[in-house]
Amino acid sequence: MIPSKVIRRELIARNVAHLYLKPVKRFKEPLPGQFIMVWVPNHEEVPMSISDYSDSIIRITVKVRGPTTDYLVNELPVNSYLGIRGPLGRGITKDLIYGRGLFVVGGIGVAPILYMVRLYSELVRDSKLLAGFATNDESSVVNELVSYLDVSVVSEDLTNGGTVIDLLREELSVGMRYNYYIASGPKAVLDQIVKLIPDYVPGYLLAESLMKCGIGFCGSCALKDFLVCKDGALVDSTTYKHLIS
Ligand SMILES: Cc1cc2nc3c(=O)[nH]c(=O)nc-3n(C[C@H](O)[C@H](O)[C@H](O)COP(=O)(O)OP(=O)(O)OC[C@H]3O[C@@H](n4cnc5c(N)ncnc54)[C@H](O)[C@@H]3O)c2cc1C
Ligand code: FES
Repeated sequence: MIPSKVIRRELIARNVAHLYLKPVKRFKEPLPGQFIMVWVPNHEEVPMSISDYSDSIIRITVKVRGPTTDYLVNELPVNSYLGIRGPLGRGITKDLIYGRGLFVVGGIGVAPILYMVRLYSELVRDSKLLAGFATNDESSVVNELVSYLDVSVVSEDLTNGGTVIDLLREELSVGMRYNYYIASGPKAVLDQIVKLIPDYVPGYLLAESLMKCGIGFCGSCALKDFLVCKDGALVDSTTYKHLIS
C-alpha cells in the first residue's frame, strides 16, 4: 500500500468532489479505466476509478454513497494521508480508440471517461459523449470535456429531463453512426446499453461490482467466472452479454 497525501479537495457538486492524491513513492502510470483501492483511516477500503493522472498526481472523483464516500467528499482534511493500492484492473488501451466513438455514461461512471478523453484527446475528436445524471448539479462534472468532443447531457431532476438511456435511444433513432462504443455506469444502465446497441458494433464496458481485495483473491466481485477486479473492469460487449445472461 502506498501512503498518498491529499493535496486538494474540490467540491464540484453537492455530493461530488475531485480529490488530488500525491503518492509518496512511484506509482505506475495508469490506463484509463483502471482503478485504485483507497484505504481511508477509520473507514473502509473502497475502489475508485482514476479520473485523471498528470505529473504523478492521481485524481479521483467521488460521489457520496455511504459513510466512506461521505467522509471523502465532505470531511477529508487536505494534507492528510490515504493508503492506495494500484493501478488495478484492465484499462482502455489506445488501440481500442479509432474512428468515431460513442461514449455512454451513467452518473459517477463518468470518472474513468474523464481521464480517457483527456489522455486520448487527439483520437476522440469526432466522438460523442452521452451522459446522464440524477441531478443537474452533478452534470457539471462533464464541463471539462466539452472542448474535446461533442457532449450531450441529461438529468432526471429537470422538467424535460430523462436518463442516458433516453439519450441513447434518440441517438440510435437515426442509426448507429459510430465505429465502436464504450460505456460506464451502474449495472442496470450497462445491461440496457448492450441490448440497445447492435451486436455488430464493437463495444466495451467498464463493469461495476462489489470489491474487497481488488486483486482476484476473494471472489466478491465475480460475475459468473469473471473477476471484475482482475479480468475487468473493461469487458467487451460479447463477453458482458454472456455474463448477464
Ligand atoms: C471498479 C470500481 C470503480 C469505482 N469508481 C468509482 C468512482 O470513480 N467514483 C465513485 O464515487 N465511486 C466509484 N465506485 C463505487 C464506490 O467504490 C462505492 O460507492 C463505495 O465503495 C461505497 O462505499 P461507502 O462506504 O461510501 O458506502 P457503502 O456503505 O459501502 O455502500 C452504500 C451503498 O452503495 C452500494 N455500493 C457500494 N459499493 C458499490 C459498488 N461498487 N457498486 C455499486 N454499488 C455499491 C452499497 O450496496 C450500498 O447500497 C467504483 C466501484 C468500482 C467497483
Ligand atoms: S475483489 Fe476480490 S476477487 Fe475481485
